[in-house]
Amino acid sequence: MTVDANSKSNGGATAPEFEKPAYDPTAPSAIEVSHIVKKYGDFTAVDDVSFAVKDGEIFGLLGPNGAGKSTLIRMMTTLIPITSGTAMIAGHNVANEPNAARRMIGVIPQALTSDLDLTVEENLHIYAKLYDVPLKQRQRSIDELLELVDLTKWRDAQTKTLSGGMRRRLEIARGLVHHPKIFFLDEPTTGLDPVSRVAVWEMLGNIKSHRQLTILITTHYMDEADRLCDRIAIVDHGKLVALDTPAALKASVPGSNVIEVQFENPPEDWEGKLHALDDVTSVQPEGGGMFRVLTSNGSRTTTGLVEMAVQSGIPVKSLSVQNTTLDDVFVHYTGRQLRDELQKAYAFTMPQRPGLQP
Ligand SMILES: Nc1ncnc2c1ncn2[C@@H]1O[C@H](COP(=O)(O)OP(=O)(O)OP(=O)(O)O)[C@@H](O)[C@H]1O
Ligand SMILES: [Mg+2]
Repeated sequence: MTVDANSKSNGGATAPEFEKPAYDPTAPSAIEVSHIVKKYGDFTAVDDVSFAVKDGEIFGLLGPNGAGKSTLIRMMTTLIPITSGTAMIAGHNVANEPNAARRMIGVIPQALTSDLDLTVEENLHIYAKLYDVPLKQRQRSIDELLELVDLTKWRDAQTKTLSGGMRRRLEIARGLVHHPKIFFLDEPTTGLDPVSRVAVWEMLGNIKSHRQLTILITTHYMDEADRLCDRIAIVDHGKLVALDTPAALKASVPGSNVIEVQFENPPEDWEGKLHALDDVTSVQPEGGGMFRVLTSNGSRTTTGLVEMAVQSGIPVKSLSVQNTTLDDVFVHYTGRQLRDELQKAYAFTMPQRPGLQP
């Protein structure tokens, strides 16, 4: 029997191996956003949002299409003016000292922006020159980054021949050539297949373990936010509706557990017996001896269920207990499923690959 306690749905992606770095709540703030507002005419895209990101933290902005995530990033990275409120980047007010703020940051915008006609290495060199990285350090930094994003053997490949995931990794390397202290990534994995998404997560973990970096990442993938981020801010319709660690956010939802269990040849009355177990609120037979059992106490029901199966001589083929997920958190704070929202307006698709990988 396989027991998969607290398993999470991640769209077929396998869990990356890296450990989340420890988040230090007493560290100084790398980013401080205070009552920030962005208006386009009468429309308020960002509505009085405040938060602080600690030095060394991985901070996630989670929200559906149109929530205001990119607008927030654009204001914090000096790309668009702030209507009211303030954004401080490493102690620099972006409205008054944009150049000082810019020197501290690396930015990966939502759309892919690497030059298709250049090679991987040329794309990195151009950025290094643009940021005035001294010649001596340039090659060292590029070699190190190519290694970190696992593109060393593609360094001479033309960028147009890369897959979407590899191109994303190149852009992440490009955003780091000048050794920024704070790294902004706007939906780095949207449109990638599950394997490429995991490669990007692993790579971010890898980079984080080699460089002292604060990361602000936007996403609408719950599993990504859960696995990568020390803390998550949920944004909806321009407003910040919740902010905490993934664990605390999940604990704040009065949720139930789901047990997915498969038995070998269960008897006819098995569904009723499962229903009679402690704390069970519903039992849904799914065919092939599979049942989805909802309970208000996952561990107690699991114990009772396994004991009953052993006593009745019914083998358990597989069993998984799922805790409350960030999906439940999103529904709790916004009243809607994030997935439904995304289906209404899916704005971004990866461009077609013009050629084969070399
Ligand atoms: N230049 C603009 N002029 C007018 N409205 C804009 C402009 N830029 C963004 N908006 C609006 O502001 C809102 C927030 O947009 P934003 O791009 O920040 O959302 P997002 O959370 O990044 O969404 P997505 O997940 O689709 O990238 C949207 O309703 C968008 O239509
Ligand atoms: Mg966006």
